[in-house]
Amino acid sequence: MVNILVTGGAGFIGGNFVQYMLKKYPSYNIYNMDYLTYAGDLTKHEAIENMENYFFLKVDISNRDGINTIFKEYKFDFVVHFAAESHVDRSITDPGIFVQTNVVGTQVLLDAAKQFGITKFVHVSTDEVYGDLEFDPTTFFTEDTPLQPNSPYSASKASSDLLVRAYHETFDLPVNITRCSNNYGPYHFPEKLIPLTISRVLNDQTVPIYGDGRNIRDWLHVIDHCSAIDLVMHKGINGEVYNIGGHNERTNLEVVKTIIKTLGKSEELIEYVTDRLGHDKRYAINPTKLEQLGWNPTYTFETGIAQTIQWYVDNKKWWEQIISGEYKNYFEKQYTN
Ligand code: NAD
Ligand code: DAU
Repeated sequence: MVNILVTGGAGFIGGNFVQYMLKKYPSYNIYNMDYLTYAGDLTKHEAIENMENYFFLKVDISNRDGINTIFKEYKFDFVVHFAAESHVDRSITDPGIFVQTNVVGTQVLLDAAKQFGITKFVHVSTDEVYGDLEFDPTTFFTEDTPLQPNSPYSASKASSDLLVRAYHETFDLPVNITRCSNNYGPYHFPEKLIPLTISRVLNDQTVPIYGDGRNIRDWLHVIDHCSAIDLVMHKGINGEVYNIGGHNERTNLEVVKTIIKTLGKSEELIEYVTDRLGHDKRYAINPTKLEQLGWNPTYTFETGIAQTIQWYVDNKKWWEQIISGEYKNYFEKQYTN
């Protein structure tokens, strides 16, 4: 039996990954370890919670004793590390927790992996560690692009990447680092642009666009991110970094207008608001290295966004319980000024 620890498996991407792996590999044991912060939610796993090979462990990744106890008990073969503070805007308001979770938490996990032994530690990172690109469509992030993070979030992720690299170089820990572009899809927390737009448009509320809306992101459906991590986990060469992206560059304005049009609403819902501090201009991934390993995305932006919008229409209950709670205070604070 293969034992896989998925950290952050109650969040957006980790949650999709847990379900993807249970479906694809019925013989694997999947251990979802999550501290259930504001971004963690277990209702998404109601259909799998009684499966014999699925387990949930509530632990803070920066709690060394808790982590060591669990590693000792379950003898993991693979660690796929998603758990993090993930929202750039929150890192501008409160950077400290990003260092605690993303840097200290990762280092605690690396120590446990080193002490108890593992086959592979996959560190799920982000393209934001490379900083940003100019609006020149011929330039892309490659694995050799220097790390130049601009936000406290991306600085904390870059710091954790460097620790993962160091544990490979110094202790020969078998690791891979993946750096993916912006994800979207089912169970995306409605603080991020796409789910925020869909949920607000469905409720006939205005959509806040930072600055002039011309910033560019490179969008990837979450299931294509999951298949990429699956491939890296099984076939990635130890110590290597793999960029993940599907060449789906869109301006924020294009994304918001697509959603409004699909839902048959008016563009008058668009509201231009004060720009994000240090707002990265453009992200774009060159995924050649991963394609050479055998990966190809299954969604285009058009098919993926249509599927995602329909999912939010069909699963209003899931996102309504989120936006009716503490989220209301967050939204008011974030968008008042
Ligand atoms: P998310 O915010 O939706 O989920 C994060 C999960 O981590 C939550 O379930 C939360 O409860 C858990 N968590 C937070 N702090 C914890 C702690 N101290 N101990 C244990 N669990 C904790 O994030 P996401 O969007 O799913 O991103 C997952 C990972 O993928 C992150 O590492 C992020 O940097 C990376 N990533 C995200 C994107 C994206 O577009 N969302 C793109 C590339 C990479
Ligand atoms: O590139 C990968 C990264 O993508 C991940 O590492 C992060 O975890 C993830 O949150 C995401 O970061 P972004 O900052 O790009 O995502 P976000 O959805 O917050 O913003 C996308 C773009 O939309 C960005 O240019 C800012 C803009 N935006 C965002 C919000 C929330 C708005 O214009 N208005 C908004 O209200």
